[in-house]
Amino acid sequence: MNADNPLQQIIGLTRLINEHNHRYYVLSAPVISDQEFDTLLRQLENLEKLYPEFIQPDSPSQRVGSDLTKQFGQVVHKYPMLSLANTYTEEELRDFDQRVRKATGNEVEYVCELKFDGVAIGLTYRNGVLVRASTRGDGTRGDDVTANMRTIRSIPLMIRGRQCPAEFEVRGEVYLTRHQFQKLNAQRIDEGEEPFANPRNAAAGSLKLLDPAEMARRGLHCFLYYLLSDSLPYATHYQNLEVMKSWGFRVSDYRARCRSMDEVTDFIGEVDKGRSEFPFDIDGIVVKVNSIEQQQLLGFTAKNPRWAIAYKFSAEQAATRLLSIDFQVGRTGAVTPVANLQPVLLAGTTVKRASLHNADIIAQLDVRIGDTVIIEKGGEIIPKIISVDLRQRPAHSDPLEFIITCPECGTPLTRNAGEAIFYCPNSDVCPPQIKGKLEHFISRKAMNIESLGEGKISLLYDKGLIRNAADLYELKYEDLFGLEKVLQTEDKTKVLRFREKTADNILKAVEASKAVPFHRVLFALGIRYIGETVAKKITKAIPDIDLLMSTDRDALASIPDIGERIATSVVEYFANPEHRMLVGRLRRHGLIMKEEVKSVHSGGILAGTSFVVSGVFTSYSREGIKKAIEENGGKVVSAVSQHTDYLLAGEKMGPEKRKKATQLGVQIIGEEEFNRMIGVNPTLF
Ligand code: IVH
Repeated sequence: MNADNPLQQIIGLTRLINEHNHRYYVLSAPVISDQEFDTLLRQLENLEKLYPEFIQPDSPSQRVGSDLTKQFGQVVHKYPMLSLANTYTEEELRDFDQRVRKATGNEVEYVCELKFDGVAIGLTYRNGVLVRASTRGDGTRGDDVTANMRTIRSIPLMIRGRQCPAEFEVRGEVYLTRHQFQKLNAQRIDEGEEPFANPRNAAAGSLKLLDPAEMARRGLHCFLYYLLSDSLPYATHYQNLEVMKSWGFRVSDYRARCRSMDEVTDFIGEVDKGRSEFPFDIDGIVVKVNSIEQQQLLGFTAKNPRWAIAYKFSAEQAATRLLSIDFQVGRTGAVTPVANLQPVLLAGTTVKRASLHNADIIAQLDVRIGDTVIIEKGGEIIPKIISVDLRQRPAHSDPLEFIITCPECGTPLTRNAGEAIFYCPNSDVCPPQIKGKLEHFISRKAMNIESLGEGKISLLYDKGLIRNAADLYELKYEDLFGLEKVLQTEDKTKVLRFREKTADNILKAVEASKAVPFHRVLFALGIRYIGETVAKKITKAIPDIDLLMSTDRDALASIPDIGERIATSVVEYFANPEHRMLVGRLRRHGLIMKEEVKSVHSGGILAGTSFVVSGVFTSYSREGIKKAIEENGGKVVSAVSQHTDYLLAGEKMGPEKRKKATQLGVQIIGEEEFNRMIGVNPTLF
């Protein structure tokens, strides 16, 4: 690299970093540490600041745009974005094979691929550079989502190698792993947002985000499965997939070339058996004619190619009777209807309850008590009612009416304009809302009062010992010792009794929670739309509760990433005198109400956070870094699992650990980032 020539340096660094990105995100085989990677990136960013005119179009610094895209432009597809004809039966697959053989002569080879259950995307490259990404839209034109797609790290901004058509398009599917989906939903529930119904909806919602930085945080992935160009490099689809892979695209290796329908159905059977093992949802298998010449011969109908078909796995269904409906009230006051069903076996488990989502869905299904309903288990965890068997409807049944008052406290329900969900507005009095708020308050990411679980909170509430979070800090040993409650589960009776140790542990954990930093205290209050990340952003801008309580809506809304809706929610929360009183009491009990300027090793900052440590570190010995984690309240565990928060990666870390962490979506951080977390200035060493 020529040290005197900034252009050469920028080009060299861009290429080098892109190579490492490819190794990390596509091949899952990195060769440098995160820290080394970050150093390279910083060098490049510094040079780019000095010489912005030399920034390369595929620069890794261009991935996370922080500017807001106000609205999406429209893109006219050069090649219409068609969908596939579907089938659920082997018979129809054989019909398809007959049609293909008739039109092309007898020799046909098929390529079978996974049918990813995500959102279709088209990426256009000109001279090897990504110039446009668009959604399917109506097939003729779609939304321009280039800024968002650039944040997906497995999508090359510039292809590898030189041998590619001057212009080409790749089509693929953007998706979220099941693990990322659950994480995202848990976060949304914490923030009082409606969770997504399944990973596909979550991916679709993410693509339409106006803030690419937020999209980047969601950790979407993309598989590519189709190459289009006026001059395709190879005569078969399979070879074109291989060349796409060599250009740096993520192409699934889970595919097969088949010479007969028997081979195709074997592949389908194999995938169907193992599909729960994939970390993402698939909903079938796509069968494509391999020869491009034969594809052209077959051509397209108005909607689908004649050279491909999707075999869809059927979601298992069962018919059963709807016995009753419960209306459950959550922490935010949202009322969710849940169907109680005559128990029935579905996909290996006995189902007794099904989700009915909201009032609109009940009305749309016109489902009534006593009806025979068809339930289905798709990607979702709770089965859903998909239809009613009207032939079996009892003679005298009434349409179901959604309740108008809260089933727990009798308060009239409200509904925001344009929203499907009803809320109980009596948030400070309605029992499940209070219990839900207390459960949120003690949860791991909030005050982390581990020894108080859901059951114990409920007991303390039922005994009249706690009504709000401040009451927790007034609990005495005498209140707790000897408390008991009989828990009746379906098959057994359990007695929950507070013995000496339980009482002691609760009091200790309550005391320890007083060291929790301000941003987590703010999150713990359970203000609607204030999740963990938002709480951090607010306390960074307004590091003191008194200041926060007197900040107006406009000032709040001017904080980066804080919109009107969040600002209004904060202002409304603190306008309520009861909430101000609660804050006052919590403060008197010693909770931290200011974001502290962290000194070296301030206590408890990592409370509730678990780390796996791997590799060699610059400024710590292996034991030293573990000690630093523990001194800050964190936990060191040996193996990466779904419950691990961070993989702390040193140099020469084990590739297996990184692979596992990447698969499970566990965040990987380097030493420098860790130091920032615990507030250590590395220059002190
Ligand atoms: S090929 C012209 N291959 O399924 C044919 N599609 O229901 C282009 N999909 O629109 C599509 N996995 O969004 C193809 N391996 C795969 C796929 C796949 C998922 C999606 C795609 C398509 C839809 C059709």
